[in-house]
Amino acid sequence: MFAHPKGLLGRIGAAAMLRRSEASYRWVAEILDLDSTDRFLDVGCGPGGLLRVAREAGADVVGVDSSPEMVRLVRRAGIDAHCAVAEHLPMADGSFSAACAMHTIDFWESRIAGLIELRRVMRPTGRVCIVVRSLDEQARPWNPSKHGFSDADLKALRTTLDAAGYADTRSNERTVDGEQLVALTSTAT
Ligand SMILES: C[S@@+](CC[C@H](N)C(=O)[O-])C[C@H]1O[C@@H](n2cnc3c(N)ncnc32)[C@H](O)[C@@H]1O
Repeated sequence: MFAHPKGLLGRIGAAAMLRRSEASYRWVAEILDLDSTDRFLDVGCGPGGLLRVAREAGADVVGVDSSPEMVRLVRRAGIDAHCAVAEHLPMADGSFSAACAMHTIDFWESRIAGLIELRRVMRPTGRVCIVVRSLDEQARPWNPSKHGFSDADLKALRTTLDAAGYADTRSNERTVDGEQLVALTSTAT
């Protein structure tokens, strides 16, 4: 429903994503300091909530998602979107000044391959933000935080970012709608 949304359940999941995530989209746009000078890529964009907020901030926006249904929803909002996987982005080298991958990196076949590919399409010094949920072992089984990132997982993700060629990785945390979110922001080198 959330990993590879399709059909009726995918559309229900898309509505849930948009409802739950509005405040987190605004938070990411703030962290990345998006404005009209930016060309922004959202990888694993889902139904496009973050793309809409980034567009409101003035950025020129493009989405990528592996689900054709999510891409259709994004295009319906008049936003450029491509059906592709993070590991093979259909974009030229150095195309973007800012990018995000939010609640999606868990589903990628290869995290390191996806992050290297994302760096390829970033301009040097481009800002990249990876957003995940913190692990909450007390959460109910259906709450995604139950399967969130532990401290060890976050440390491993930082190591992967280093290995993929990112620098100056910083961590921001915020509780949004009862979920503890972690945003790792890095610079593409
Ligand atoms: C939980 S949703 C998050 C959507 C959006 N980022 C948000 O926060 O509202 C995860 C999305 O990642 C997409 N996805 C999963 N694996 C992917 C991959 N390898 N490359 C690109 N998108 C992927 C899914 O199709 C789904 O739309």
